[in-house]
Amino acid sequence: MLEARSLSKSFPTPTGRLSVLSDVSLSVTERERIVVMGPSGSGKSTLLAILGGLEEPTSGNVELDEVNPYTLNGSRRAKFRNQQIGFVFQDHCLLESCTALDNVLLPALAGGRVDDSLVERGQFLLDRVGLDRRYRHLPSELSGGERQRVAVARALLLRPTLLLADEPTGQLDSASAIHVIDLLTELVDETGSLLCIVTHDESIAERIDGCPQGRRLHLFDGRLIA
Ligand SMILES: Nc1ncnc2c1ncn2[C@@H]1O[C@H](COP(=O)(O)OP(=O)(O)O)[C@@H](O)[C@H]1O
Ligand SMILES: [Mg+2]
Repeated sequence: MLEARSLSKSFPTPTGRLSVLSDVSLSVTERERIVVMGPSGSGKSTLLAILGGLEEPTSGNVELDEVNPYTLNGSRRAKFRNQQIGFVFQDHCLLESCTALDNVLLPALAGGRVDDSLVERGQFLLDRVGLDRRYRHLPSELSGGERQRVAVARALLLRPTLLLADEPTGQLDSASAIHVIDLLTELVDETGSLLCIVTHDESIAERIDGCPQGRRLHLFDGRLIA
């Protein structure tokens, strides 16, 4: 379960503190899928970064299965993120010099353990996202949709408790976007991960919050509106 209580975030700027999130609370229970929508600059990426243990809130707190990542020191927090949280960003963020399979295995490498079962899981995930003949391709040899499917496989390698996706289809055409979202939701079902996804795209939002586990939230000016 993910629980965020009264999150606020502000940044210092030359003209004073800029408030980006104000009093945001939400809880996400087992297998729920949350879609976050809102205008550009409304704080969506900041919220995801806070939920994912990447950006400490100015006030309020976050707990994932009763662990507040911001009470952990740097290396323990990095380990927590590695084991509990999967990220998919708008830009696939793959390593250009690594093959598709090695990119998928990165969370295991970062966590210090790659055994045969993880390599098998990486291959299984690439098969599941339709890239069974692309293990050895470099990102530059893949299409945009294929790269994003590699990113999805990578995010799910270690069966994260929480999968965060920030406009994962923002650079894809609508057919590839739907393909990526359908794979993402299928795989999240298999791992039982909570899903929190930011999108601008109404048809993507409908695909996710149209299911029984789906729920849509709107951010306006740093405030959450259900
Ligand atoms: N590190 C930062 N320092 C100062 N302002 C920031 C920082 N990060 C984000 N912001 C500001 O916070 C607001 C929300 O940003 P963001 O969360 O990226 O919005 P969204 O993802 O909804 O487009 C923006 O106005 C942005 O300029
Ligand atoms: Mg954003």
